[in-house]
Amino acid sequence: MKGLILSGGKGTRLYPLTYTRAKQLIPVANKPVLVRVIEAIRDAGITEIGIVIGDTGPEIREAIGNGSQFGVEVTYIEQEAPLGLAHAVKISQDFLGEDRFVMFLGDNVIEGGISPLIADFANHSEWNSQIVLTAVERPEQYGVAKLNSDGQIVRLAEKPKEAPSNLALVGIYMFDHHIFEATNAIDPSFRDELEITDAIQWLIDHGYSVFPHIHRGWWIDTGRPDDMLNANSLVLEELTPQIQGYVDSGSEVDPRVTIERGAEIINSVVRGPTIIGRSARIVNSYIGPFTSIYHNVVVENSEIERSIVLEHSSICDIPARIQDSLIGRYTNVGISALRPKSIKMNLGDHSHLELL
Ligand code: DAU
Repeated sequence: MKGLILSGGKGTRLYPLTYTRAKQLIPVANKPVLVRVIEAIRDAGITEIGIVIGDTGPEIREAIGNGSQFGVEVTYIEQEAPLGLAHAVKISQDFLGEDRFVMFLGDNVIEGGISPLIADFANHSEWNSQIVLTAVERPEQYGVAKLNSDGQIVRLAEKPKEAPSNLALVGIYMFDHHIFEATNAIDPSFRDELEITDAIQWLIDHGYSVFPHIHRGWWIDTGRPDDMLNANSLVLEELTPQIQGYVDSGSEVDPRVTIERGAEIINSVVRGPTIIGRSARIVNSYIGPFTSIYHNVVVENSEIERSIVLEHSSICDIPARIQDSLIGRYTNVGISALRPKSIKMNLGDHSHLELL
C-alpha cells in the first residue's frame, strides 16, 4: 500500500498564523501535525508516501525533505490550487498507479494511530474503499454519513445544512484504483471543489464496496485555533514525560512535564501535562497545564496556561495570566519599561487580543 497526505489548501481559519506558515506545520505538543501524520502512516507499515502541496509547498519540502529522517520515502505532488480533496487524488494518479492507498488529511490528529485500520483494509482485498466515521457535535461542519440498521452506508453528504446523522467523515480514507473513475466522473460542488465525499458516493452508487469504520477515540481536525489547543491538550496527555533540560533547585516541576534538551527552568513552577522545548528559558514564571512552549522561547516574570507558543518568541513581565492562546513565531509580548507606560502592539491581520 501507499500513503497520500493532503497538505495543500489555504488555512484561512488559522489566520494570522497561517499567513506565513503552512497550517500542517504548526506543532501540537512540539511536533508539527504533518510529522504526526507521516509517523502514523509509517507506523502502520507504509513507507512510500505522496504529499500533495500547494502555495506553502516550499516550506513543507524544507521541513520534511525526502522523508528519510522519518524512515519514509516522500514524493511531492504539486496542486495548482486547492480545487478539492478529490482533485488532489486525481492529480496523484501517476504516483499511486494501481496500488491500494490510505489518504490522510495533513491537518488531522487522531488517537491511537491507524495500524489496525490499515491491517483491516489490507486483509479485505475485495473492499474497494474504507472510510472512518466518528460521532461529533456539529456534523454540518463536515462530510456526514447516514448508515442503515446493518451499519452499511446509505448516503454521504458534504457539509449538509441538515445533517442526516451525527457521524462525520474523519480525514482518513482507504481506496483502490477505482477511485480514479469516480474522481473523473464527478462535478464540482457548491463550494466549487471536487469533493471526495461525492467521489465516495459515486463508488457506492456504481456498486463498489465501501465499508465504514467507526472510530471511538478522539479525533481533531485542527482547522481553528481552539481545535489546535484541544489537540495540543489531548496529545500532551499521551506523552511519556522526560526531563532532558536543567531545572534549578528553586523550581517546582510536576511529574507530567517534558523538558527538552538545553531548556532551563529557573525559579519557576511548571505543571503538566506540559512540554518545554529545546533551549527554551523559563525564568520566574508559572507554566500551567496543557501548554506547549516550542524551542528557543523565553518566558520571564509571566504566567501562561493552556496555550501554544511557537519558536523564538518571548513573553516577559506580563501582569495577567495568558490563557487559551496561540502565539506565533518570533513574537514578542512584553511591557514597555519607558514612560509613558503603554501597551504597544504590532499585530498581524486577523490577530485577536483580549485585554483585562
Ligand atoms: O477533517 C475532515 C473533513 O475534511 C471531512 O469531514 C470532510 O468531508 C472533508 O471534505 C474535509 O473537509 P474540510 O473542509 O475540513 O477540508 P479542508 O479544506 O480543511 O482540507 C483538508 C486538508 O486537505 C488540509 O490539510 C488541506 C488539504 N487540501 C485541501 C483542499 C481543498 C489539499 O491538499 N488540497 C485541496 O484542494
